[in-house]
Amino acid sequence: MGRQITVMGICGTYSHDSANGNLLKMGLAACEAAGAKTICWDNMETPLPLVGSPDSSSDDNVKAFQDMAESADAYLLSSPEYHGTMSGVMKNQLDWVYFSHVGDKVWAVMSTLGGQTNSNTLNHMRLSARWLHGNVIPEQLAVGNVKEAFDEEGAFIDEAMQERLEKLATSLVTTTEKLL
Ligand SMILES: Cc1cc2nc3c(=O)[nH]c(=O)nc-3n(C[C@H](O)[C@H](O)[C@H](O)COP(=O)(O)O)c2cc1C
Repeated sequence: MGRQITVMGICGTYSHDSANGNLLKMGLAACEAAGAKTICWDNMETPLPLVGSPDSSSDDNVKAFQDMAESADAYLLSSPEYHGTMSGVMKNQLDWVYFSHVGDKVWAVMSTLGGQTNSNTLNHMRLSARWLHGNVIPEQLAVGNVKEAFDEEGAFIDEAMQERLEKLATSLVTTTEKLL
């Protein structure tokens, strides 16, 4: 038995009370149930400047974000789909990390959509993660028609979606353990 792995959650909105934030919390809980420790960056408390904005590279939050990313063994991404792709908040976070922080680690991707389920945002995050030398697991989850997807407690109305989420989380944790 190796050491306990750490999964870092990366949310596509400032607030984690959003739909994709709710999905991320559920995914991280499922990773914990599969044996991982979890951490999560909070863009509301510690916002990141836009990459390339004045003095951004010396920003304390950027350094803390990069340190957190470097300390993690795996990443769970959840983004809303905006105009057919990931949110700017998500892309900006991915733009703040390099191979030295995240290279050769394991990733999983999830998205929420106001309209019909599709794989655009998943594929775009998959591509960015590959450019960061990430190993993205094949399991993925897109939650379409998101306003109807969760009940008042934030749980999936469709139990099959919860099963898919748990399979994704278990795969993320076990794949990471195998690669350690
Ligand atoms: C600027 C913007 C663009 C959007 N573009 C799309 C889109 O291309 N496809 C879609 O299905 N939903 C689109 N939506 C709806 C969002 O995907 C949906 O509101 C979101 O997934 C809800 O999650 P959240 O609460 O985490 O933001 C868009 C919403 C905004 C604000």
